[in-house]
Formats: sequence, structure tokens, C-alpha cells
Amino acid sequence: MVKLIGKNKLDIAVFISGKGSNLKNLIVFSKKKNSPIKIKLVISSNKNAKGLIYAKKNKIKSMIFNFNKKLFTEKKLLKTLKRKNIKLICLAGFMKILTNKFINNFNGKIINIHPSLLPKYKGLNTSYRVIKNNEKYTGCTVHHVNKKLDSGKIIIQKKIKINKNDTVSTLTKKVLKLEHLIYPKALKKIVANL
Ligand code: GRF
Repeated sequence: MVKLIGKNKLDIAVFISGKGSNLKNLIVFSKKKNSPIKIKLVISSNKNAKGLIYAKKNKIKSMIFNFNKKLFTEKKLLKTLKRKNIKLICLAGFMKILTNKFINNFNGKIINIHPSLLPKYKGLNTSYRVIKNNEKYTGCTVHHVNKKLDSGKIIIQKKIKINKNDTVSTLTKKVLKLEHLIYPKALKKIVANL
């Protein structure tokens, strides 16, 4: 097992599409002494993503890619990631689906955070669906990315109870807070074994 501290931190890229609270949280984590990661690059599928502000504030290079031309874009992106020696991709609110080819070409070293207790509630609008189905619990999951949406091997999961008075909005906020807890934990768990 390799200890990744100080100068030996693993160079990672974070992919975002929107508000970037997970990115912000990972930036804070990456600066801690015992963090095994260094965020070298932020990739956004959206030029207006609020998360880009956090990259700028923290002097992290960010790039915007147009995923509407997916195959062309992924090819360009792979070259960039290899050139920058990126060893792991963390998807954090990234709203595009990567092709199988891209995942394989990156040796499957891609992880994602999802706001549900996978394998339940893959896809979008998870808080709405758990409330509608009268679930007692929900939570979030960090998992490896494979060719099937939200279906890769689970790295870590955290569960919370849904209160009777929870709304989609309150629940989404609670789950997001949990996400910020587990993403760093998941990284600590997997990075040394990559
Ligand atoms: C999070 O709930 C994440 O799990 C989901 O999208 C949301 C993104 O939030 N995939 P943020 O952009 O990190 O604030």
C-alpha cells in the first residue's frame, strides 16, 4: 500500500455540471495534510456552472467541454487527462453520461456520488421519488463508474431517516450534507489501493 501524502498526492480531476458544492468540499479536503488527493483539473460540461467559481478562487485549472458532440469531446478530453497525468476522475454532480469507451480508456478509474442508497433509486429526482414512495430511509452512495448508470461497485454509503415533515427540498439538503461527509471518506478508502 502506497501512502499518498505531501508531494505524493494523487492527481485527480473533478467533473461538474452545476452548483459544485461537492467540488467545494473536495477542494477543502484536498488541502488537508492527511488528504491523499490533489485536484489538478476541473472539467465542466456547462460554461455557467457555479462550481467553476470555486476552481477559480482556488487557482485550479478548469476547462469547459461540450458533451453534445460526445465522441469528439471525449477523445479530446482523454488526451488532456493523460497529458496532465490525471490518475482518478471524481464525478460530482456531473450530468452527462460517459461512454463505455471513455470509461475503459481511463482504466475504469472513475468514481461518482449519487443521492440515494444504491441500487435503489438510480437516476434523477431521488428525493422526490423516495418521499413519494413513503420510504423510511434514504442516503447517498459513492461508487465506481461502469457502463450501466449508477450501477458500479459501491465504495461507501450513508443512510438517514426520513422525517414525516421532510419535503423534497429539506431532504435534498440533508442528503447533500451527508454527501460532503462520505466523498472524502471514499477517497481515503480507495486511493491507496488504486
Ligand atoms: C449531488 O446531489 C450529487 O449527488 C448529484 O448531483 C448533486 C450535485 O450537487 N449527482 P453539487 O453540484 O455537488 O452541489
